[in-house]
Amino acid sequence: MARRKKIYEGKAKILYEGPEPGTLVQYFKDDATAFNAEKKATIEGKGVLNNRLSEYFMTGLNAIGVPTHFIKRINMREQLIRAVEIIPLEIIVRNFAAGSMAKRLGLEEGAALPRPIVEFSYKDDKLGDPLVPEEYIIAFGWASQQDMDDIVALALRVNDFLSGVMYGVGIKLVDFKIEIGRVYDGDYMRLVVADEISPDSCRLWDIKTGQKLDKDVFRRDLGNLTDAYTEVARRLGVLPSNVTHATKPTLIN
Ligand SMILES: Nc1ncnc2c1ncn2[C@@H]1O[C@H](COP(=O)(O)OP(=O)(O)OP(=O)(O)O)[C@@H](O)[C@H]1O
Ligand SMILES: [Mg+2]
Repeated sequence: MARRKKIYEGKAKILYEGPEPGTLVQYFKDDATAFNAEKKATIEGKGVLNNRLSEYFMTGLNAIGVPTHFIKRINMREQLIRAVEIIPLEIIVRNFAAGSMAKRLGLEEGAALPRPIVEFSYKDDKLGDPLVPEEYIIAFGWASQQDMDDIVALALRVNDFLSGVMYGVGIKLVDFKIEIGRVYDGDYMRLVVADEISPDSCRLWDIKTGQKLDKDVFRRDLGNLTDAYTEVARRLGVLPSNVTHATKPTLIN
């Protein structure tokens, strides 16, 4: 990490200059924030888990033809990514009511929605990432109508992929957020999934028990966040099953 130029430090990750033009190194920190950074903590091991999990989901998306910024994992906390021009939107896909939507509409948390709902918030921490209609996005030029059609199609493909992967390990994908960026190949522009896909940016409930396995554990003080993320990683086979974050030595006799 030494001598590498830091490009940006956010709440959960740091971006460094990559080894080649058009690349960046994304470093996953252990910092957790919620409620627009009003609540903060350092959670040992979170960055390592999110690096692995984001690698797992992005690799799977690339494999089924959904383009992402992911190139390769470098080490426990870092991955090589393509530098993109981030569209200043959080793209949220909801399958079941939860969080701000449940609150806004007076819906019960967990109520099934008639179909997946895609919504957008404008990425601006000072404003608290306000929900914005497509009309605003196009009028203010953050994205074109064509971009929006492509973004919704991409988001729904990510939703189907992630829902299926999670269902396979007994987890319900309630909702998630992605960021999308632009990559330029000469005159041609492509939209790719960027940032991260991890339990920090999804709501994941155990199908049988309803137990929360995502950042709500931290937001709502429901227990140990690392344990929850480790459980997701273990079920997906992303961590060898004998690896835990226990620090005590085990005696062999
Ligand atoms: N491939 C990429 N190219 C360029 N920027 C990226 C890429 N992927 C993610 N980013 C940006 O890198 C930053 C990641 O840091 P982090 O998620 O910690 O930020 P944050 O504190 O959530 O702030 P922000 O409000 O900017 O998202 C984000 O600003 C994200 O938009
Ligand atoms: Mg972020």
